[in-house]
Amino acid sequence: MAYIVDLRSDTVTKPTEAMRHAMVNSALGDDVFGEDPTVNALESKIANMLGKQAALFVPSGTMANLIALMVHCNKRGSEALVGNCSHIFKYELGGAAHLGGILLSILENKPDGTFDLGEVEKRIRGSDIHEPITSLVAIENTQNNCGGKVLPLKWIDDLAVLCKKHSVPLHMDGARLFNAVQHSGETASRIVRDCDSVSVCFSKGLSAPVGSALVGSYHFIEQARRMRKMLGGGMRQAGVLAAAAVVALDEVVPLLALDHKRTQILAKVIEGLFLKTFQVDSEIHTNILMVRLPADSAVSADQVIQRLAQVCLDETQGDCKTPNDEGVIVKAISCNSKTIRFVLHREINDEALWLAIMKITYVFKEIDAKYQTKK
Ligand SMILES: Cc1ncc(COP(=O)(O)O)c(C=O)c1O
Repeated sequence: MAYIVDLRSDTVTKPTEAMRHAMVNSALGDDVFGEDPTVNALESKIANMLGKQAALFVPSGTMANLIALMVHCNKRGSEALVGNCSHIFKYELGGAAHLGGILLSILENKPDGTFDLGEVEKRIRGSDIHEPITSLVAIENTQNNCGGKVLPLKWIDDLAVLCKKHSVPLHMDGARLFNAVQHSGETASRIVRDCDSVSVCFSKGLSAPVGSALVGSYHFIEQARRMRKMLGGGMRQAGVLAAAAVVALDEVVPLLALDHKRTQILAKVIEGLFLKTFQVDSEIHTNILMVRLPADSAVSADQVIQRLAQVCLDETQGDCKTPNDEGVIVKAISCNSKTIRFVLHREINDEALWLAIMKITYVFKEIDAKYQTKK
């Protein structure tokens, strides 16, 4: 038996006791008829928090983004501009093209998650008969694949001005918007003030079991509701799920600061090892930590991850074990062949963090010694 510290994603979080209680006791109705009081309460709550007119509860972040894309880019063949590191581009199976007939055009994300505004302006098109019509710009906040970066508010404001100038709507994939709120000290409504639509996930760091919301104007949500039904996302007594999301907003949002603090600690420890093989990003904003291997390193991110998932005899005979003499497994994922991603979340308390630090230190030193001597 080994003690497992799961740092693959904040999606692994399970509902809290308060969520389970609320789920069992929630008032229910048929949400396709608009009659589920708990879903209605959640939609009003999140719309209010984001300073928008209306919201729609949907099964996943992927569906929330897809609906937003399909509503904004409702003429087949129209174009959405997205970052090359965005979840929409990398991890949503090209659903925009497959289901919506939408051309995703990519802009290069900088390490801070932004992209060049001059480039956006150059890339907006539609006045020429040969060109597709640019019908959306989508941004991601926090930017997952850039290491949970919080987009600078001034940049969002400037981008929004540019989008308005060209009458192109702006969508924010705010799967981890509340992490951005926590880091920046700004309110959610200020951050999304100039966005025409926003998706927010309840099932990531907020620990609800299922669900996201799409938020925007009455008119936008009216169209989004039809699109959700078409995609098979119309749920009936969905209040049983929405109940957990309501609790998540009250109970877990205030705890995100702890995840951020623990991420900083993990980063500082790895940095303090001064190992040539493992470099952490210089700026950690939220709960995601990227550890990078040198491009010419003989070891790959997946090899490191496999080693973290093993317990060797030496470890338990030495100090790398729990107080109960169990070995420790740390689960992580790779973002590419040279990048390991650790994500902190509510289930990683101080004890789990300490065990993770012990194991990561042990494995990183072992690998660094092996590959540095090989050079
Ligand atoms: C930034 C971002 N957007 C969207 C999603 C999609 O969410 P879901 O897994 O609920 O479809 C994720 C999932 O991890 C994400 O990280």
